Formats: sequence, structure tokens, C-alpha cells
Amino acid sequence: MSESERGKTATTVLVVDDDPDICVALEMLLRYEGFEVWTAQNGKQALARLEKEQAAGRRAELVITDVKMPEMDGLALLEKVREQPDPPPVVMISGHGDVATAVDAVRRGALDFLEKPLDQNRVLVALQNALRQTKLTKENRGLRRALSERWELVGASEPMRRLRAEIARIAASDAPVLIRGENGTGKEVVARNLHFASAVSAGPFVPVNCAAIPSELIESELFGHEKGSFTGAYERRIGHFEAAHGGTLFLDEIGDMPLAAQSKVLRALETREITRVGGSKPLTVEIRVVAATNADLAQAVTEKTFRMDLFYRLNVVPLRIPPLRERAEDVPLLTRHFLAQIAARTGRRPRALEPDALAFLCALPYPGNVRQLRNLLEAASVLAEDAITRADLEKILENGPGLTVTAASPAGPFDDPFRAETFEDFKERSEALFIRRKLAENEGNVKRTAERLGMQRSHLYKKLDRFGLK
Ligand SMILES: Nc1ncnc2c1ncn2[C@@H]1O[C@H](COP(=O)(O)OP(=O)(O)OP(=O)(O)O)[C@@H](O)[C@H]1O
Ligand SMILES: [Mg+2]
Repeated sequence: MSESERGKTATTVLVVDDDPDICVALEMLLRYEGFEVWTAQNGKQALARLEKEQAAGRRAELVITDVKMPEMDGLALLEKVREQPDPPPVVMISGHGDVATAVDAVRRGALDFLEKPLDQNRVLVALQNALRQTKLTKENRGLRRALSERWELVGASEPMRRLRAEIARIAASDAPVLIRGENGTGKEVVARNLHFASAVSAGPFVPVNCAAIPSELIESELFGHEKGSFTGAYERRIGHFEAAHGGTLFLDEIGDMPLAAQSKVLRALETREITRVGGSKPLTVEIRVVAATNADLAQAVTEKTFRMDLFYRLNVVPLRIPPLRERAEDVPLLTRHFLAQIAARTGRRPRALEPDALAFLCALPYPGNVRQLRNLLEAASVLAEDAITRADLEKILENGPGLTVTAASPAGPFDDPFRAETFEDFKERSEALFIRRKLAENEGNVKRTAERLGMQRSHLYKKLDRFGLK
């Protein structure tokens, strides 16, 4: 069948065998099934063919190769193919006596192997599996790429360059990492970049906000619970440690973790085992732990609110993210990045920025760091009539230090309470204004604000979430 008859490009398979009978038999079978087939007599010829076709913009989606061949055998070919960017899957054909080699090939990255004499159905099944697998891998890679774009670490300043180099250097190890940085500096962004670059990038990334969990629930949240283990445990629940198995557990705001939970976390990290609340047998978990804090943990250790042993356990690789005011040269890049992101979300062209507006942006102190810059640009994109001016920015900043109404809530909870129509609405607006003010008085420090207001931290977090204050 020619390509024009099929109306679309056929999937191409490269068949490599020094036995011409096998080449012909496979070629006929695969052609009959609608594949395009290339053949070669040994590894060298196969590579030459791949190269020649690639120069013409064509590629094989699958390679089926014999193990024993003159000039270059199947294992050497496998190795060469796997060195290529985005390599096609390889299926080995083993003769009598070299099944062990074929098994070894699978260990080295071949997708499957077929034994001689070849069975037609086995061949076709192996082929379909191989192609399905590649499709999944490709889809997966696409999704991962989209995700990693969303979490791109933007910045060309010296500290950011160093940070990126450090991430690349430590990603391969499974040592715990402790990220320090003020609010909004990008701790989660860095944690996710570590995950993307790590050996467990195909596994889950599980973020846990340690400050947002009420202390009486923290054990069940982290380790899970069995049905009926306490009042309210209606179902078995998988905890965050278990959910992160084979991936990264991101312990955010670790400085706010209650002491009782700290000792349990330490044990879990040391033994790599957890037991669900109400469960009897421990479960093994393989996780990479990345923790983050905006608090001075060393200070907390001195004050005995943070366990020294846990601190040392987590602080194997310390990473510090400098505040935005120490790297103002990143502001223009970040600004362009956020304006493009906001535009992509709203389906409009990115807003332009007047030159003096950019100069103004570069000179701000940013107590709320990168997040504050992003919020500011969100608000400006909504407010500005055309290009964003310095006056637009100043108007938004008058709204409150470090805290701006996000685009998600343009006429949000921060409106004058006395203009509310209902009592509920009045309460909501008053609460939002009060909390915003108190949070600003405490430089955005949630823990301190909660203490001063006599509120549970987790409760305050919920409110912040609701009012879009985070
Ligand atoms: N270098 C950066 N490049 C691109 N976006 C960034 C960067 N740093 C931060 N951001 C963005 O700024 C916002 C805040 O970042 P992130 O949540 O990682 O900060 P954080 O340090 O965890 O803050 P908090 O202490 O409040 O938890 C996010 O929207 C994030 O995408
Ligand atoms: Mg964070």
C-alpha cells in the first residue's frame, strides 16, 4: 500500500537480521499489516540506513533486530540507538542459545524479545505493545513538559544562575534538601524543579503544607489511617508519605510543624517506614524529601521549637533563595514572564509596559517577593486601560502593602463592608480587611499573625486561601 493510498504516513519499522529469509518473512508480514518496512543485514547497515533516512526527515518508530550478526551485533546496535535523542523502541530477536543475551538486552533498555522460530502472532502483539508504550511515553513527556513550563524558574541574576547550577548538581542524589527563603521567593518552584531534574521525576510530587494541618490531625494526614482508627475515620486514608512513594515529598513550611509530629517524621525518614494510624504493620516508603521554610530553623532549634536531630536530617543540602530585592536585575525578566502567562490565560496579547513603569517596578522593595510582583502585574493587567503605567502600579500599591486584590477577585472581599447588601457579606468583607491589615502588620508572617490574633494557624490559612491573600 503506498502512502497516498493510506492517506496518512504509515508507521515505519526497521528490521535487522543477517538471515535474508527472516528479513523477507518479517517484511511481508509487516507490509501486509500496513507498516512501512526498512531492512538491513547487520547493525552497521542499520545505523547507516537510520542516518540516511534521518537526513531526509524520516525516522523509524520501531527497530526489530537479531542478536547475533556479523560486523555489528544487536547489543551494539541497541546501545547506539539508545544514544540517539528520542530513540525508537528496540525489540530483540533471539536464536537458540542466545536467549540469555536477549534477556540482558531487555535489562539494557530493549523493550521486548522474540524467540526464533518467529511466531506471526507473537510478532504482531510485541509490535503493538511496543508502539503503544512509545505513545504513552510521548504523551507523558508532553504532559511533563507542560508542567515544567508552568514551574519554570525564571531569572538571570548571578544568585539565580548559581541556584540553577546547584539544582542540576544535586538533583541526581536522593539526599534531603532544605530550601530557605522569604515568603514568595519561589521555594515551591525550586522544589518542583528539583523533582523534574531528579531520578524520580516520573513519580509523584506531593506538596504538604505543614502549617495548614491542625496538630491533632497531622499524624493521620502524613501517615494515613485505617478505617475506624478514631472517631471520624470512616474510610481508610492514604497519607502523604505513602502517596509520595517513588517520588518527592515536599514538606512546606516545615518550621510550623508541631513538635510531636516532628519526632514521628524523623523516625519515618530514618527508617523509611511508616505505619498508618490504627494500622499494625509498617510499610516501606521510598521518597525523596524536600523541605522548605521561611523561618530561621537554626534559631528555632535554639528556642527548642524545632528538633535539632530533624534539622540536621533535613539540612543535608541547604539551598537559600535570595529575596527579590537582592536581585532586582531579575525583575524585567520576571515581568515579561508573568505578563505573557497572564495573557495566555486570558487569551489576550500581553500587556505592554511603559518604560517608567518598568523602572518603577525594578526599584520596589518587594516584601512579598516574586509573588508580590506577580500579583501586582495581575492587578495591573486588569486595571490598565492600555499599556501599564506607573500611575496604575502606584494606585494598586496604595491598596495595601504587599497585598493586592488578585484578578480572580476584582471586586473581591476587600470592598467597603458598609456597602455590603447582606449581613453575611458584611462579615466576610470585614474579616478580609481585618486579616489583610494584621497580616501586613506582621510582614506577611502567618505564624506570628495567628499567634497575635489568638487563632489556630490552620484556620488562618483557610481564611487566607479564601480571600486570595496567599
Ligand atoms: N524564579 C521564578 N520564576 C518564575 N516564577 C516564580 C519564580 N519565583 C517565584 N515564582 C512565582 O511566584 C509565586 C510564588 O512562588 P512560590 O509559591 O514558589 O513561593 P514560596 O517561596 O513557596 O512562597 P511562600 O513562602 O509564601 O510559600 C508563584 O506563582 C511562582 O510561580
Ligand atoms: Mg510556598
